[in-house]
Amino acid sequence: MRHFLTLKDFTKNEILEMITLAQQIKAQTKSKNFVPYMEKQTLGMIFEKSSTRTRVSFETGIYQLGGIGLFLSSNDIQLGRGEPMKDTARVISRMVDMVMIRTFEQSNIEEFAKYSKVPVVNGLTDSYHPVQLMTDYLTMLECGIEKPVVAYVGDGNNMTHSWLMLSAKLGFELRVATPKGYECDPQIVQEALNFAKESGANISFGYDPKEAVKGANVVTTDTWVSMGQEDEKEERLKAFEGFIVDSKLMSLTQKDSIFLHCLPAYRGYEVSEEVFEKHANEIFLEAENRLHAQKGIMVWLDRHRED
Ligand code: CP
Ligand code: NVA
Repeated sequence: MRHFLTLKDFTKNEILEMITLAQQIKAQTKSKNFVPYMEKQTLGMIFEKSSTRTRVSFETGIYQLGGIGLFLSSNDIQLGRGEPMKDTARVISRMVDMVMIRTFEQSNIEEFAKYSKVPVVNGLTDSYHPVQLMTDYLTMLECGIEKPVVAYVGDGNNMTHSWLMLSAKLGFELRVATPKGYECDPQIVQEALNFAKESGANISFGYDPKEAVKGANVVTTDTWVSMGQEDEKEERLKAFEGFIVDSKLMSLTQKDSIFLHCLPAYRGYEVSEEVFEKHANEIFLEAENRLHAQKGIMVWLDRHRED
């Protein structure tokens, strides 16, 4: 049985298989052909943090696959009152067919997966957001980006770590620019660089957004204040001055470059209103693609239960 906890656990071929499945299922969905790949299956969806896209896309996605989603907020289940993750896993995984979790430490989801009888999908942790990156890759393909040169400008956070893993596995160029003190986790960087040696991905790190975006065909960013970091808001806003993706910065990129944002976006902070609205088509295609990419992932995991 395979879990989807981080992209590091998957080969390039496996990632591409899931993307191909997502593309097929998206085409079927668009022609109102709802193939019940996961008929009568239940997806448990545990949320320890807020969500709009992850909740709606997983719940709708499993329904379109012939199953049903159970929204389990930690405020409502005993997990929120201290029932251990491993007990929660042993209970819920006897009743449902797959589990998606959004939580804090990556070790929480690893603990759940260790005790789970069914595949577990990472719906965001402090370290990674892998379903979002599968979505972003699908979106880049749909936007005609064949040879991605991606610039990530902003916080070295869960999104950045997942960009590192995607680039390292698939072998495309990634330039990361963060403020000093907000770099990526060095251990995750090292792991990504090791994978990059195999794939030939050119991954670089720096502190200058202009250097990072020069000649890029994809620019992306994320909030400067992730969920759980609300207390650091004031100091973060100061530290990230100069890291806004605005039209001036975008003018340094390739002609026809795209801008992606996992959302929610904070205009005037990590992205200007002008850049956001200019690239709204790509951004909201990206949001919609959560639905399709995750169906690809769920069906792939369902088919690999015996592995
Ligand atoms: N991008 C993303 O995961 O959005 P939500 O927090 O709304 O799920
Ligand atoms: N880095 C953000 C992503 C939100 C989808 C967070 O963790 O809050």
